Amino acid sequence: MTTHADDQVEVGAEPGHWFESEPLWFKRAVFYEIHTRGFFDSNDDGSGDLRGITEKLDYLQWLGVDCIWLLPMYASPLRDGGYDISSFADIHPDYGSVDDLAALLEAAHRRGIRVIADLVMNHTSVDHPWFQESRSSPDSPKRDWYVWSDTDECYADARIIFVDTESSNWTWDPVAGAYYWHRFFAHQPDLNYENPEVRDEMLAVLRFWLELGLDGFRLDAVPYLFEREGTNCENLLETHAYLKRVREEVDTLYPDRVLLAEANQWPSDVVHYFGDGDECHMAFHFPLMPRMFMALRREDATPIGEILEQTPSIPGNCQWGLFLRNHDELTLEMVTDDERDYMYAEYAKDPRMKLNLGIRRRLAPLLDHGRAEIELLTAILFSLPGSPVLYYGDEIGMGDNVWLGDRNGVRTPMQWSADRNAGFSRANPQRLYLPVIIDSEYHHQAVNVEAQQHNRHSMLWWVKRLIGLRKQYRAFGQGSLEFLLPENRKVLAFVRRFDDERILVLVNLSRFTQCAEVDLTDYEGMVPVELFGRQDFPAVGAAPYFFTLSPHAFYWFALERRGAEPVETTTTRELRVARSWTELLEGDATGLERVLPAYLASCRWFGAKSRRPASTQIAGDVPLTREPGGPRLTYVRLEYTEGEPELYQLPLAEARGEAADRIERERPEAVVARVRATEAPEVEAPGVLYDPSGEREFSEALFDAIVRRRRLRGRGFEVSGTTTRALRDLWNRADGVPEPAPLRAEQSNTSGLGATRTWFRGWTRGARATGWARASS
Ligand code: NOJ
Repeated sequence: MTTHADDQVEVGAEPGHWFESEPLWFKRAVFYEIHTRGFFDSNDDGSGDLRGITEKLDYLQWLGVDCIWLLPMYASPLRDGGYDISSFADIHPDYGSVDDLAALLEAAHRRGIRVIADLVMNHTSVDHPWFQESRSSPDSPKRDWYVWSDTDECYADARIIFVDTESSNWTWDPVAGAYYWHRFFAHQPDLNYENPEVRDEMLAVLRFWLELGLDGFRLDAVPYLFEREGTNCENLLETHAYLKRVREEVDTLYPDRVLLAEANQWPSDVVHYFGDGDECHMAFHFPLMPRMFMALRREDATPIGEILEQTPSIPGNCQWGLFLRNHDELTLEMVTDDERDYMYAEYAKDPRMKLNLGIRRRLAPLLDHGRAEIELLTAILFSLPGSPVLYYGDEIGMGDNVWLGDRNGVRTPMQWSADRNAGFSRANPQRLYLPVIIDSEYHHQAVNVEAQQHNRHSMLWWVKRLIGLRKQYRAFGQGSLEFLLPENRKVLAFVRRFDDERILVLVNLSRFTQCAEVDLTDYEGMVPVELFGRQDFPAVGAAPYFFTLSPHAFYWFALERRGAEPVETTTTRELRVARSWTELLEGDATGLERVLPAYLASCRWFGAKSRRPASTQIAGDVPLTREPGGPRLTYVRLEYTEGEPELYQLPLAEARGEAADRIERERPEAVVARVRATEAPEVEAPGVLYDPSGEREFSEALFDAIVRRRRLRGRGFEVSGTTTRALRDLWNRADGVPEPAPLRAEQSNTSGLGATRTWFRGWTRGARATGWARASS
């Protein structure tokens, strides 16, 4: 090993796509939507920016989100929050530069977080040079890039979307001497997709950003790309044909990315955006969203059940995007008139809260700041088939401001702390792009990330735990759905199944205690295990199962077969990776997190043998050497059903071939799991993931770090070596590293409780030689 005194080991991950092996990642992902302007201001100019997001990645990783969705960050006059793009290849100067985005992508990828961004294909800003050129003359080469007409009477069957501001989809342009077509604001002319140059140009735009490393796009307003007389100009065959072409291009050049369709349509129309698994990977389920709110207020599961019964099945490689709130109004286009009236009556008591056909409010104020109601809806969101999308700030229950125009009231600065400007920016408060929330109930001095991170009973911690728990079960992202229909309709009950996982979900929509008899006879003999507390319930018998649910309670149960369950051994504990075991840390850590509890329980030094971990999380790791697949110190956080959580330091390394055989033979207790590399044909047999403490090379590397007082940087943690002169003397002597025996002898210190220090101790020339590596987060 070659090292130098002040070397700093960088994280071993190659920037770029470590996750190509996992094309269906989006089916298990938790998405987090960010308004760049509102997230964090890194340069004190009053506007959030891309660097600000990079600075907050630790937070997002801590929370456990898998994929960030950025609202449009392109050059724009910002008359529609950036959905009015004036250059597709530039970043808005307030947000930073293309380099800043590249840096964000790299930093996010290093943490195992992907990033997608909005792409507005349907229209541009009137400020876009294409439009300026187009309007300048009928002979302009760009004239046909937009939809022009001499009359405003064409496409009369197309509805108006922004009913509060627009009275027509046509606007007269005095410069062009013609009307131009727009489905949204008049300052957002629609591009003309009949023109092959437009179609090609938009593909070039896609390639540009994918090449930079974006993991995909939320495709804004896709139903409206083409127009045809005599139709409502939505969901046309031409639109689907073009999206298939987009998909083909993406699959060919960038196979691990995702296309998420924003199509505010009925399920029977939206499913066409999946094609046969060859169009968009994902699409939002718009009609489900208001029905979750309706079910809660009506205290009746019917609206949710009905819409999901009406939702056709989708190809196996596709996924629904589910959300409660986002940057827009809570849209009520996909409900009946009666249902809309009901929603307005319940959720928009002040007329200022209405906008177009929707309600412009955030999650917490919609639910009157009721913690139980917020948790209930969030739990439903996390339980139904699809990938949940959280809106920034909703994880702490941020408020809104109905006194701000348009949708600005739900786009105010993220509340990081009780400091000036909610810790969002150090600018003069008057310079902020929007004022922070100061309403007494949601004031940033009370509702902020810092305060909630310090309180383990906060909503933020609850959301974090929910995310962690969901990730332990593939059934949530990929499982089937089977409604159980108890007679008591105030109780929503269903089972999600995937392979041998069966998750029973029970939700009491009522504000009063309820009981329900649930037919679980298909699961007779199995034990329902409540997932938050890992608490066994009585086994399922032949009679209906009787549950009592407290007001607004929800439960997740794993239905487990006892006795017949195969005993987990290292052979059955097999983890799959594409090429390198480090993907288990840098990518989706769920697999490793699943096998760790059984491994830890078998370790002599594990202190909590009598306690059952309710959640196991890889909190970070630090590579010990520069070698790409070399050993790492990993940090495992365990939360228990009772008592304090613990952090363990667990050294991990991989061995293959003969080395793997030797470890399995000689030190089976050190083997965490077998590792099979699916895309490394040169590696046929599985390797082993093991704890290398006690192996000479590992001890040498650690000792080297200590004695040279190196600082090793990793993800979420830093390890620094400290030593006494006596130990350095020992090191400098020809006989080099002391035997690793001290490391073994100090087992509970090296890997055990607190787990933040690793010691080497010995004696040299009569002096006690001491050195230690200290980890800090
Ligand atoms: C949908 C976006 O979510 C919304 O914010 C925007 O105003 C319209 N598309 C127009 O681009």
